[in-house]
Amino acid sequence: MRIGMDLNSFILNEERRYPSATGSLSRALVTIESATKVIASHVRMAGLVDVLGKAEKINIQGEEVQKLDELSNSILIDYLSNSGEFFALASEELDEPIFPEEGRDAKYVIAFDPLDGSSNIDVNVNIGTIFSIHRRVNSDISDFLQEGYKQVAAGYIIYGSSTMFILSTGNGVNGFTLDPSVGMFILSHPDIKLPEKGKIYSFNESNIKKWEPQTLVKYVEALKEEGYTSRYIGSMVADVHRTIIKGGVFAYPADKKNKNGKLRLLYEASPMAFLTVQAGGLATAGYEDILNIKPTDIHQRVPVFLGSRKEINQLLEFVEYG
Ligand code: AHG
Ligand code: MN
Ligand code: MN
Repeated sequence: MRIGMDLNSFILNEERRYPSATGSLSRALVTIESATKVIASHVRMAGLVDVLGKAEKINIQGEEVQKLDELSNSILIDYLSNSGEFFALASEELDEPIFPEEGRDAKYVIAFDPLDGSSNIDVNVNIGTIFSIHRRVNSDISDFLQEGYKQVAAGYIIYGSSTMFILSTGNGVNGFTLDPSVGMFILSHPDIKLPEKGKIYSFNESNIKKWEPQTLVKYVEALKEEGYTSRYIGSMVADVHRTIIKGGVFAYPADKKNKNGKLRLLYEASPMAFLTVQAGGLATAGYEDILNIKPTDIHQRVPVFLGSRKEINQLLEFVEYG
């Protein structure tokens, strides 16, 4: 593995490590790569073409849908369905999973957040796409309800000052940066590892009075005493990306209003937990490791605390769950 290798070559090299591989996962990943390059080009044109603003719709989560949410969702559905590599697709923007005709013999199911950070679309702040791939086991909706540690691959694409593809197939985490002049993702961040300890905490502190448990307030006070600084973008992809590179802690706790927090287990918490753990960090819901939670619903939410080992272990000393 060398800096400068493109993502396609990297995927094919990884496949070679498994002599029994059929190439199906490689094709699946290359399809995600193609779809997200198309999304990236639309994001780059935002403001010039009509992709900003609301779609005048409310999704299954009760949230307002933006035009770019819908566009990204339809691009992903189109590419992933036509690839024939996915038996089923679950999306934040779909009430129920899709079982594409082309994928009836496929080996994998995929859950995704087509566009993360919707509130930042109109203000030119980083947004992203998150995905999580599991093996097809029962050939029904229960294939999505497998624990996070069973993920075959997980990743995110961040549409930021540059576009990056962060990927793990269970052998560590690698980051690729899109070179727009050749249209290829190039390995720029090989074998990403979280520092043991960081200097940043990332919470939406406006919710502090509602946080559950309230002992979290003491935890954040302790971090401040230790000299930590605060960064919170409000796009999970961006906040987690910074945390994976610089260390520290990102969290979206439960609160009095949202008993399970805000973030969705299947296509936000679980893939981000997989990447964090693969990069040497920790990811917990407080009462249990996120990767050990067995989902019961496609769109269920879960409290999220992830980051460097020092900060997450310290958090677990502060919070008590019954
Ligand atoms: P989405 O845009 O996919 O609905 O996700 C938004 C999420 C996540 O990106 C972010 O971490 C969180 O919402 C921010 O929520 P608050 O505005 O409540 O802090
Ligand atoms: Mn999201
Ligand atoms: Mn989204």
